[in-house]
Amino acid sequence: MNRLKDNNSSIPIYEVFKQKYTPEEKVLLAEIRENLVDLAISSGEDFQLNEAKLFNDIKNFLFNRLSFESGNMSGEYIDSLSRKLLQDIVGYGQIDPLIHDDDLEEIMIIGINKPVFVYHRKYGMMKTNIVYKNEEELTDLIDLMARQINRRIDQESPILDGRLMDGSRINATIPPVSADGPSLTIRKFKKDPFTIIDLINYKTISLELAAFFWLCFDGLGVKSANAIISGGTSSGKTTTLNALTSLINPKERIITIEDTLELQIPHEHVIRMETRPSNTENRGELTMNDLVKNSLRQRPDRIIVGEVRADEAITLFTALNTGHSGFGTLHSNDARETITRLTNEPMSVPEIMISAIDFIVMQNRIYKPNGVSYRRISEVAEVVGIEEGTVQLNKIFEWNPETDKIENVSIASRTLSEIAKLSGRSLNDLYKEIGNRQIVLEHMLNNNIRSVSAVNAVIESYYSDPQKVLNQIILNG
Ligand SMILES: Nc1ncnc2c1ncn2[C@@H]1O[C@H](COP(=O)(O)OP(=O)(O)OP(=O)(O)O)[C@@H](O)[C@H]1O
Ligand SMILES: [Mg+2]
Repeated sequence: MNRLKDNNSSIPIYEVFKQKYTPEEKVLLAEIRENLVDLAISSGEDFQLNEAKLFNDIKNFLFNRLSFESGNMSGEYIDSLSRKLLQDIVGYGQIDPLIHDDDLEEIMIIGINKPVFVYHRKYGMMKTNIVYKNEEELTDLIDLMARQINRRIDQESPILDGRLMDGSRINATIPPVSADGPSLTIRKFKKDPFTIIDLINYKTISLELAAFFWLCFDGLGVKSANAIISGGTSSGKTTTLNALTSLINPKERIITIEDTLELQIPHEHVIRMETRPSNTENRGELTMNDLVKNSLRQRPDRIIVGEVRADEAITLFTALNTGHSGFGTLHSNDARETITRLTNEPMSVPEIMISAIDFIVMQNRIYKPNGVSYRRISEVAEVVGIEEGTVQLNKIFEWNPETDKIENVSIASRTLSEIAKLSGRSLNDLYKEIGNRQIVLEHMLNNNIRSVSAVNAVIESYYSDPQKVLNQIILNG
């Protein structure tokens, strides 16, 4: 349907083929629109959730209507016309084809009479041939999205931040906040999420580091390590966090707290919570901090905070200091800045509490000259203590841009020593265990075992019987 066009300008073009209807089809479309009220009633109050039913309704309508006129309408034609009509009726209009392209990371509408931009996973930033020529069409689209998620956007609250039913995140603004007309940014939800094996494959993380994390986050039943994933906007923090959660022991009781649900954790025992903004009609706001406080009364083993931003940081660190494990992402450019941001307004975590973090994982997005980007874990640092009021960091892994390898740069890891001490095992023993887990990860990598369910199945069986899994891998060569 869509074509990537070669052109001489610096930004490649993404061309969308526009829906073209024959005059007869246009009549049908108008008729269906008229009948939409009936169809809507018969398909329940929500189109999006009943798309399959609506599709069938449209098909039946066409079938009756067309077979009247000419007896020989092919089922294939009716099928494809139904799909086209459905997209036009319940879809998102002009940008609908973009929403259905899983190769796009982001869709960006920057105002009227300007091209819509997209960010393509392979080709980077691209300009589409879609232009919104009037403000009303764009406002209607934003209103439609707002209504679908029970929110509103108007002069009183001209900024909308939310999550569509398919999981995509949207941010919209209307004038006068955005000067050139309404703006809309859609961060598309990846239907098939990146797993730890994908991230190893893309070299975002190394096999060795993944195996090391696996042992530390598991903690052999004595200390399950926690981590803050830090980095710039869109550097892949949430994606890395999500992939790392697959390494958590399946026995843990996990509570996730997010502003917009993004995490997809494969574990069975997970409670997912989402904050509630204040512009939801007639309902009070529920902040991140409210939910983190509440989670402490739910006996969690691990609390995962999607993005640490404000006063919930202190509550989270209180939890970490009282024996809970945690994960979270945080916006910052290096490990030192992560500490600075945590200890200053508005997070204001007391320095003494910071040592509860085991790992600061820095995630970087690196741009190539052609505008395409790739993501790397650029550094892993441990918090080793506080000296004269300053938090001491120990770098244990570092990405080398020249070799494009993540190198182990420390002699000792505090977390590993602690696990050794508490479990009564020697460090050598732990290195051997890390080696075994690396064999399991490498086996998945080499055999393209990469989907969420397949990776989770292997990790779970390793947790229940490691020797059996290792034997199987060795047997299969
Ligand atoms: N390691 C990776 N390799 C390739 N693409 C990735 C990788 N990590 C993330 N992405 C893609 O980059 C986009 C942004 O990822 P993600 O939402 O994880 O970033 P983020 O740092 O959490 O962003 P934000 O600052 O908005 O919270 C997504 O479309 C995701 O699919
Ligand atoms: Mg994020």
